Amino acid sequence: MNLKLRVMIFEDIPEAMRLKYAAGWNQTAADWARFLSATPAGCFVAEYRGDVIGTAATIIYEGRFAWIGMVIVDEKYRGRGIGTTLLEHAIRFLDLQKVPTMKLDATPQGRPLYEKFGFKSEYDIERWMLSRTVKERAAENGSVSIEEILTIDREIFGADRSGLLYSLAQEAPHLALLDMQKGKNTGYSFGRLGSRADHMGPWVARDKYAAKRLLNLFLTKSSREFIFIDCLRQHPWAVPLVKACGFELSRPLTRMFRGTNKYPGQPELLCASLGPEFG
Ligand SMILES: CC(C)(COP(=O)(O)OP(=O)(O)OC[C@H]1O[C@@H](n2cnc3c(N)ncnc32)[C@H](O)[C@@H]1OP(=O)(O)O)[C@@H](O)C(=O)NCCC(=O)NCCS
Repeated sequence: MNLKLRVMIFEDIPEAMRLKYAAGWNQTAADWARFLSATPAGCFVAEYRGDVIGTAATIIYEGRFAWIGMVIVDEKYRGRGIGTTLLEHAIRFLDLQKVPTMKLDATPQGRPLYEKFGFKSEYDIERWMLSRTVKERAAENGSVSIEEILTIDREIFGADRSGLLYSLAQEAPHLALLDMQKGKNTGYSFGRLGSRADHMGPWVARDKYAAKRLLNLFLTKSSREFIFIDCLRQHPWAVPLVKACGFELSRPLTRMFRGTNKYPGQPELLCASLGPEFG
């Protein structure tokens, strides 16, 4: 098979979206653009006879660790080593950049591929989904100043990702939420306007009450019929809170890492991740 692997460019986004839709995923063109803007040399496509038939994207966070996401192979061409080739390419790129740790959230389908490359499980994540009838469109107003949470988020995530958080707040200002109690920041969350659903995450809270307030506020601010949240399974409040709001389990994910995992962040404060592709 005469496969060509090359760096992805913005013009590939429509083809990459075709693969993404076929996989039933929720990302938008804006998500591909986030990868391409953050790490332009680290996103790859596999091309066969002029068609894009596979993708893999990476994003480097502060040189501490990198995320690998959007690993998709056209269903027609699966099981022929294309996923392996793309992942090899992404890993080689990150090795050349001297990134010590690679992380990702694996679907059950992707997990064997990553295990082959020495990725180890860190913890379980669960995609929860709410399907609801929205009677009237919520007012899409509100915007918060996110500067004060960037330092906190760096501690919790393990590296600076302010570029990503700014882009989320810009795209969906009504879903960027802060919880303040007695002048102190007790939590925050962001949202993305996915192709199928609004996606809440990251969702961070110092206590159960802050977590609940943020979730309820998100559900009021979002005007979509479907909401996704990727909860950390071991987190004491996240899953019980989404269940109480009527969310149903959609699919499991496994957070995996390769390398030292020197900056694991503070997952105990993280109710939900930003999403499997970004961490
Ligand atoms: C996961 C995915 C990218 C793999 O792509 P692929 O080109 O089929 O992968 P490869 O042919 O290189 O196979 C890689 C490994 O996956 C596993 N695998 C592939 N096809 C499989 C199948 N039909 N059944 C079970 N395992 C399979 C094998 O462990 C294989 O390793 P091997 O070469 O030692 O047998 C592809 O299935 C896909 O796009 N799935 C939907 C999107 C997705 O879930 N992506 C992963 C995100 S974390």
